[in-house]
Amino acid sequence: MKTPRIHLLAALAATFMLAVPAAHASEKADVSAGRALVQQHACFTCHAIEGTKVGPSFTDLATKFAAMGEDKAEKALDQDVHAGVQGTPMPPNPTLSQAELDQIADWILSLKK
Ligand code: HEC
Repeated sequence: MKTPRIHLLAALAATFMLAVPAAHASEKADVSAGRALVQQHACFTCHAIEGTKVGPSFTDLATKFAAMGEDKAEKALDQDVHAGVQGTPMPPNPTLSQAELDQIADWILSLKK
């Protein structure tokens, strides 16, 4: 019964080697999910990636929020996107789930230069 054991070890080693790049890939997938949500919810009507439109660019927002530190930045972005900014054209987005808000925040923060 030596052979199956070796196969098992080989399988474990292969899994381990694949696990590292896979973790990176899923992080990337989350960021692109955030971008897809921004597209879907028409945020690009008022925000460009670069350059001010009706609202500030996502790159500028990334720089501004990232200055708070990652945890605070994500919470503040979640809050602003969820509730909007009263007295400005920035609308509330009450239908976005917490997970979706996090994905959007992660995508915005990924644009920081
Ligand atoms: C109708 C135009 C409009 C749409 C649509 C819009 N925004 Fe905004 N957004 C603005 C404006 C204008 C501001 C600047 C508000 C201010 O003066 O503080 C802003 C500000 C923000 C801010 C920064 C808030 C702060 O405290 O500085 C974030 C983050 C943001 N928008 C994300 C989004 C996302 C994500 C979406 C899509 C779900 C979205 N916006 C859709 C107009 C819009």
